[in-house]
Amino acid sequence: MSVTVRVPAKVNVQLAVGAARPDGYHDLANVFLAVGLHDEITATPADALRITCAGPDADRVPLDGTNLAARAATVLAEAYGREPAVHLHIDKDIPVAGGMAGGSADGAGALVACNALWGTGASRDELLALCAELGSDVPFSLIGGAALGTGRGEKLTELEAGGGFHWVFAMAGRGLSTPAVFREFDRLAEGRDIPEPVADQTVLDALAAGDPGALAVAVTNDLQPAALSLFPELSDILAAGRAAGALTALVSGSGPTTAFLASDEASAAEVAAVLRASGTCATVRTAQGPVPGATVV
Ligand code: C5P
Repeated sequence: MSVTVRVPAKVNVQLAVGAARPDGYHDLANVFLAVGLHDEITATPADALRITCAGPDADRVPLDGTNLAARAATVLAEAYGREPAVHLHIDKDIPVAGGMAGGSADGAGALVACNALWGTGASRDELLALCAELGSDVPFSLIGGAALGTGRGEKLTELEAGGGFHWVFAMAGRGLSTPAVFREFDRLAEGRDIPEPVADQTVLDALAAGDPGALAVAVTNDLQPAALSLFPELSDILAAGRAAGALTALVSGSGPTTAFLASDEASAAEVAAVLRASGTCATVRTAQGPVPGATVV
């Protein structure tokens, strides 16, 4: 017997970042949108915890205890006084170290898969608390849809999103480490007053209205200057997508994946084709959002 869970990637349509806290984290106002690129995590009984991974980026996924899927199985087993004896197979379609919460998706997926496989019976709230232990973006991977994340991103308020937004994602040839991007944010912020991060009502209204034109002018990402500072070539990808007719172009989360909002499906296909031909990026994908969070298939 095995259980498979499908979990979406995310893009941030607002990422407001506050000053570094004493614990090193940053308070955020983080508007998440789940988009239709998915990892699938399959849990099968085994003698001991084992992780395998397949997919185009599989060689860049750690298969040891640091993998968030492995940590998820371990924290759930500890919480319920059992051994994490499970084989977790990750079918990976979300870019690795791309700023699209691929690792977080695997953590949330493994929790839901092990909860079902073991008949642990953890409630949604218990699962969300375990997700928050695993990482700041993991709770959102569980719930999907659209949500505002505050605190370090783990305190979620579900948001209304009226209709599907059409996105194009361009993956760079290498990843960026999230902690390194936050450190660069701190370096760039030195000597400046950093305001408290707050959700932007124009972003929330555009999301609720399902209006891509209004969302395009409202999106912001405070981590973008830091990502561009560490990875200057991203500017060329952003420029190529804008020239191709995207409504807006931004770095997704901590990057280096770049995200382009299109007015409709046909325009997204056109932007994707131009980006593919531009030679500025490694891979280009289209996806719609919002989509549901972690779901047993
Ligand atoms: O929570 P998570 O383990 O995903 O965070 C990875 C790293 O990103 C943290 O160690 C920290 O350096 C940075 N981070 C942050 N503030 C946040 C979320 C993440 O500084 N709100």
